[in-house]
Amino acid sequence: MAAKVWLAVASLVAVASANGCGPGPKGAENSPTPTLPSTGATDLPAPDSGLVLKKLTVGHGIQNYTCINSTATPAAIGALAVLYDIMPLYPGTPGVNITQAGFDAISTTVLWSQSLPLNLEKQSAAPPSAALSESVFAADPTQPFLDPVPDLSLGPSLPPLKFAGIHFFRNNTNPVFKLNGPPDLVASVGKKFSVKAPAGATTGLLNTGTVDWLRLEDVGGSDGVKIVYRVVTAGGSPQTCDVSGPGTGSVPYSAQYWFYG
Ligand SMILES: *[C@@H]1O[C@H](CO)[C@@H](O)[C@H](O)[C@H]1NC(C)=O
Ligand SMILES: *[C@@H]1O[C@H](CO)[C@@H](O)[C@H](O)[C@H]1NC(C)=O
Ligand SMILES: *[C@@H]1O[C@H](CO)[C@@H](O)[C@H](O)[C@H]1NC(C)=O
Ligand SMILES: *[C@@H]1O[C@H](CO)[C@@H](O)[C@H](O)[C@H]1NC(C)=O
Repeated sequence: MAAKVWLAVASLVAVASANGCGPGPKGAENSPTPTLPSTGATDLPAPDSGLVLKKLTVGHGIQNYTCINSTATPAAIGALAVLYDIMPLYPGTPGVNITQAGFDAISTTVLWSQSLPLNLEKQSAAPPSAALSESVFAADPTQPFLDPVPDLSLGPSLPPLKFAGIHFFRNNTNPVFKLNGPPDLVASVGKKFSVKAPAGATTGLLNTGTVDWLRLEDVGGSDGVKIVYRVVTAGGSPQTCDVSGPGTGSVPYSAQYWFYG
């Protein structure tokens, strides 16, 4: 399954090498200005005028949930993810041969083709495969991130995606993003708007559904970032409490994160 998805997407994606433009686009002056994706239905409010796109990343990690009992509704209790720079792959960037569809498929490709880049308690659960339970994806609570975090390779035809930062929660409602510089950026934000992901989005390794697209705004403590969008989500929704049982669980997900400041 994973291999099939990977091949399908790889065929959409290739770096132009025939014409002598190698990977590692450097022509920033000719690069297009990325436009926030649309769900095709109700969309999040556009970035405020005057803000500029500081970083464009794909995140890969887990969404955490807890169930009080087996008839309750799962409550979101945070997330952990590793972020990789995808700005250099944006369609239209000189030297990069990627379609918009290929670019939009990156989060699904990452979810289904890449090992979870976290320090999982059961490292055997890291490689992507259709899984049965939220319980297998628990990360080490004291040291959840790998050190160092390797760059992400999506195959021989694309430049490796550089490790760009980490995402964690300070409390259940305060997601934080630390982005590698220079200059280092910090987003300490809270959810202000959410809309449903498009119906065709992947329902993820647990076949539970796709987390919403979000607009998150600074709640104090940010540095260089005012708004964060989570878009083009893949997977991440919880199992129902009768399936997961009481207690906490983690669901693999991927998404694009757009940082404006
Ligand atoms: C761009 O990628 C497409 C699809 O993989 C391929 O058919 C085409 O030849 C590539 N173009 C260049 C200039 O490499
Ligand atoms: C499960 O938790 C919910 C929410 O706290 C509560 O309303 C319900 O009574 C509980 N059910 C059982 C069977 O304990
Ligand atoms: C999510 O749960 C994992 C255990 O699976 C834990 O390591 C991590 O600290 C939790 N993160 C948050 C933000 O709740
Ligand atoms: C969570 O953190 C934010 C930002 O630090 C703070 O404003 C908020 O009061 C905290 N919420 C809780 C429930 O502790």
